Amino acid sequence: MPHLRPYVSAVVRPIPITTREQRVEALDAAGHNPFNLPADQVSIDLLSDSGTGAVSVQQQAWAQLGDERYAGAESYYRYREALQEVVPYRHLLPVHQGRAAERVLFSALLDRGRISLSNTHFDTTRANVERLGAEARDLPAQELFDLDSDHPFKGNIDVAAVREVLDGPDGPRVGQILVTITNNGGGGQPVSMANLHEISALAHERGVPLILDAARFAENAWLVIRREPGYRTSTPLEVAREAFALADGAVASLKKDGLAPEGAFIGVNDDELADRCELDVIATEGFRTYGGLTGSTLEQLAQGLREVVTPEYLADREHEAAYLAERAHQAGVDTIRPSGLHGVYLNAGRLLPHLTPAQFPGHALACALYREGGIRCAELGSLYLGTLDEDGALTSPAPFELVRLALPRRVYDHSHLEYVGEVLAGIAKAPEAVPGYRMTENPPILRHFRCRTAPL
Ligand code: F0G
Repeated sequence: MPHLRPYVSAVVRPIPITTREQRVEALDAAGHNPFNLPADQVSIDLLSDSGTGAVSVQQQAWAQLGDERYAGAESYYRYREALQEVVPYRHLLPVHQGRAAERVLFSALLDRGRISLSNTHFDTTRANVERLGAEARDLPAQELFDLDSDHPFKGNIDVAAVREVLDGPDGPRVGQILVTITNNGGGGQPVSMANLHEISALAHERGVPLILDAARFAENAWLVIRREPGYRTSTPLEVAREAFALADGAVASLKKDGLAPEGAFIGVNDDELADRCELDVIATEGFRTYGGLTGSTLEQLAQGLREVVTPEYLADREHEAAYLAERAHQAGVDTIRPSGLHGVYLNAGRLLPHLTPAQFPGHALACALYREGGIRCAELGSLYLGTLDEDGALTSPAPFELVRLALPRRVYDHSHLEYVGEVLAGIAKAPEAVPGYRMTENPPILRHFRCRTAPL
């Protein structure tokens, strides 16, 4: 059966068509940092898949029924009912986005000197651990480090390494084990159910809370169905529920798999922990029945949570990501294999061997994609993950120099992705023409969002 996209555009947004001259000027004004570009200068925006998706006509219709009463609004109960279908925790608290959920839950679980172990902490997740004076330690499975292998579950956590930490001198300081599904910082790769079962057994044996960072819970479930023996005939809902049930709690941005522009939740079983989180949410986000979200958003989320677990939607998402990866390969650009769902990660280090990590090849490719095609995306390499001294010189590089082309949900069609492939092919024809970069402003934390750079 050929693939059939299960939706069509109902409303469209025009995108700017810019000249190279305009883009050179815009990039200059942005300090050569794509995060500083005004979006009206961006033609294809692959910076993030977060809150950037298109809503369905059903979501729009539900939004009209948004009940904005302060406490116990009808919209809250519809949202909670939809969330409970997927997430089997006793306590579910809405908050405005994922990082708020992280801040609230981690403040209740961690403090100075504690350690959070993860397959990979996402950047805001790491920041929310570190701002408490705790340590965020990444222990991804070794398979992640072979970008070219087709191992199906490169997002796994290294259970043996976690056991070693728990058995060693740092063991008593471990405050949580956090498994990110899918592993965004690790190439958008999925975590297998076998891995989740194993880490769950270990965490429970040692009495350490196991928390999921479940921003892409439906996409992880889909990749489990596609790749893990024993799950082929399961539904995405069944797999997602099983994953949540293996943990003691979760934080999840719903700007991804909630198919809405904002929202997140904190889910826990422990009554006392829930109580502490609730106080924090009421003090800083909003009353426990809206958590900073409008009734309209709660309605959009309730409907989005039902749409996101349909096999037709997830199969389409897989198809789109594979199509973009294939365009990159045809352009002569390698990507992390196998491709996940929420983005395609380009191997910029391999494409631009004339640039050393200190010249930020990933950042150089991201800037080239904008300059040559108005395409915006983000570096995941030494600019983001490397260690720099006060003058902005690289002292320790990232393991890889990557660029993430994130795919907003239900937004771009094949013609847009084909265009990205053509622009990439143009760059790949003369890679040595892509200049390296140096840092001109180097903020000490969350550098990639705030730095300014200049071409060499
Ligand atoms: N955890 C993961 C795995 C994420 O990917 C994100 C956001 C967050 C937490 C934070 O959620 O944005 O709602 O506060 N990721 C976006 C991205 C920003 O582009 O990957 P948030």
